[in-house]
Amino acid sequence: MQKLPAFSPPLSAVSRRTALKSLGLLAGSGLLGLAPARAQTAAPRVDGNGDPLSARYPELNYINLAGNENPFGPSRRVTMALMREAANSSRYPFREANILRDEIAALEDVPPDHILLGNGGDEVLAFAAAEYGHPGAEIVATKPTYLQLMDYAERRGAKTRWVPTTGPDMRHDLDAMEAAVNGKTALVYVCNPDTPSGTMRAPADIESFCRRVSERVPILLDEVYLDLLDDFAQQTQTALVREGLPVLICRSFSKLHALAGHRIGYLIGPPEILQGLQAHRMSGLNYLGVACARESLRDTAFHTLSRRSIRAGRAALEALLDELALPFIPSHGNFVFHYTGTPVREFQDFMRERRLFVGRPFPPYEDWVRISIGLPAEMAVYERALREWHSARDA
Ligand SMILES: Cc1ncc(COP(=O)(O)O)c(C=O)c1O
Repeated sequence: MQKLPAFSPPLSAVSRRTALKSLGLLAGSGLLGLAPARAQTAAPRVDGNGDPLSARYPELNYINLAGNENPFGPSRRVTMALMREAANSSRYPFREANILRDEIAALEDVPPDHILLGNGGDEVLAFAAAEYGHPGAEIVATKPTYLQLMDYAERRGAKTRWVPTTGPDMRHDLDAMEAAVNGKTALVYVCNPDTPSGTMRAPADIESFCRRVSERVPILLDEVYLDLLDDFAQQTQTALVREGLPVLICRSFSKLHALAGHRIGYLIGPPEILQGLQAHRMSGLNYLGVACARESLRDTAFHTLSRRSIRAGRAALEALLDELALPFIPSHGNFVFHYTGTPVREFQDFMRERRLFVGRPFPPYEDWVRISIGLPAEMAVYERALREWHSARDA
């Protein structure tokens, strides 16, 4: 991956200082004087506007450990860019989105026409679902995994050919997935690292799978959690796209970059496929999301902090699960899937009474739960609740 030059945004109508003043953040709040560690850390998320969970439980001041968000950001640099750019957000970001696309292309080491931006990874997955999901078509995917693409394709009349995970670490059974490809298969979806398990397949296995299977059908590799890894550059399969194989790679600014609220994601793929997918676009991107993504790409110090914070949160949770002798899958994501021994709906109810939202059911693992890594204070609430649940269960 290449390095980006320093971000020089278009001249803002207001200076950074004026923007801060007008938002009431300069005087009193001490924002500019914050120590670096504190400045990088946002306040706990307690407001869930638009979240299906909070819509169902509007009275609840809850801690959401169900969304696989990154609570450690966005970075201070991004927050500053956001304020600086707010005054320009009456504009559609056509030019800025193109610049973001070009900058991402430089980082991914592909030509700009190999990048398709969307409103979050979900939108570009929806483009693929709209393109490949039609009556009579099948999508091959593992179960359980991230469902969005298959749900959308099924609503358009496609079928999913589900392939169970294999082994105690619930990994993709790539041989079985290959065997499931038939004349009706329009697309194969592989999420690596996967959710809810957080497990992943070695890059050599993914690569040889893609080489064999992409001779028959396109493959969508969902790598939205992959950039949380320190050795991301060695793990990603962008080289296959560079070679011209019909492989699409999905990335998101919601995980490493902690910009879930800004809805920016993209596909890397062959231009002839991306052009078809692009036809399903209804709306452009959002101006501030683009500005934040551009700044966040440059803030490599935050990437390191983000990876480190998520790893520490994961390690603490895994240590707790070890102590309580609750099996879990060692995770490469910003979440951990662990055994509860209780139907997940009951476990959800128990946790909800303690202000915690935990992951949904992931059949067939009905007595397992996915816990997204929250801020340390949020994880402390989960620890207390889990210990309580554990001793009640043992009693
Ligand atoms: C595997 C996977 N892919 C894609 C997404 C979509 O991410 P976003 O739309 O926030 O970019 C998610 C969200 O959690 C995910 O878990």
